[in-house]
Amino acid sequence: MGKPIVLWLDGCFDGFHYAHANAFRQARELYQGPVHMLACVHSDAEIIKNKGPPLFDEQERYAVVAGCRWVDDVVEGAPYVTELDNLDKYHADFLVHGDDPVVDATGRDIYAPLKAQGRYMEFKRTEGISTTSLIQRVLDHPQWQRESDYLGVLLREFTKSIPGQFPVVDFGSLGDLTSPPFRSLTGRKVYVAGSWDCFGAGHIEFMRRVKEVVLSDSKLVVGVWSDEVVEKMTGELPLLTITERALAVTQCKYTDAVLYGVAINVPASRLGLDIVVNGDAHRHESASVQVIEVPVPSLATLAKLRDKIHVHLDAFKERQRRKQQS
Ligand code: CTP
Repeated sequence: MGKPIVLWLDGCFDGFHYAHANAFRQARELYQGPVHMLACVHSDAEIIKNKGPPLFDEQERYAVVAGCRWVDDVVEGAPYVTELDNLDKYHADFLVHGDDPVVDATGRDIYAPLKAQGRYMEFKRTEGISTTSLIQRVLDHPQWQRESDYLGVLLREFTKSIPGQFPVVDFGSLGDLTSPPFRSLTGRKVYVAGSWDCFGAGHIEFMRRVKEVVLSDSKLVVGVWSDEVVEKMTGELPLLTITERALAVTQCKYTDAVLYGVAINVPASRLGLDIVVNGDAHRHESASVQVIEVPVPSLATLAKLRDKIHVHLDAFKERQRRKQQS
């Protein structure tokens, strides 16, 4: 294998969502050979200066991009406008960005100098979600979110981009389970389920701890509760749809398989699972397989989002207004 090309993909990555993960995935696929992907994340100060307060602070935004399976390294505090010198300092060959125009206050394309030097590549921006639309969802919450067919297509794309076998299984279509769905995974299969709504740094840290507690040859099968189960367990509907939540766990580097639309208790031994992990949200009942406890860090991402939006409501409304005009 030749030397990898180094790609620089910068952004705020605020309220990290599946389109951000898809940006890294698509950027890697622009090149046939090996890639070293740098996720270059702006500091809070840079974001406040250029577009107003972020939803999540820089430590959370750095941690969440580091959890993406398509990222190799994080450059913390990347400048808002990337110059050639920045790329050279990190030995980056190209800056990659979505195909949405990025202009400064005078309407000038901020990447024009990099384009002129042949150091710029772009991929198609993912429709359907943005930080701005996430803010709107929080303001409109709780309401049922419409699932688009595109999300299913994207979930298949995510799976195809992961080397080896990566089972993504719809719990509702499992039937009588004569054949366990995770038989392609080697090692012990460890199961952990949740809503994984507004997937953030706390969820990633929890998964990391689960991987640390169980043996290294274990595979992590992540169950994603159906909307009905989330409503029953938390008292309200999730912010993100079932497929959006499945996309969030699929892009996470600790996940080895996904079982989505699950009930609260699943038939663990019939599914071929060896260990079930309990966090503190729910105690899984299982007589047939080993159950272990792993302490959970704060997962209250939706609560954090609400607090922040409430405190900066005027600034966010102004940002939405500007976005709609552009
Ligand atoms: N991106 C994308 N599709 C989206 C949102 C972002 O492909 N729906 C890409 C952007 O084009 C950029 C990278 O993700 O290359 C980081 O974007 P970021 O600065 O975090 O966000 P914005 O472009 O401002 O989008 P958002 O409204 O989600 O903040």
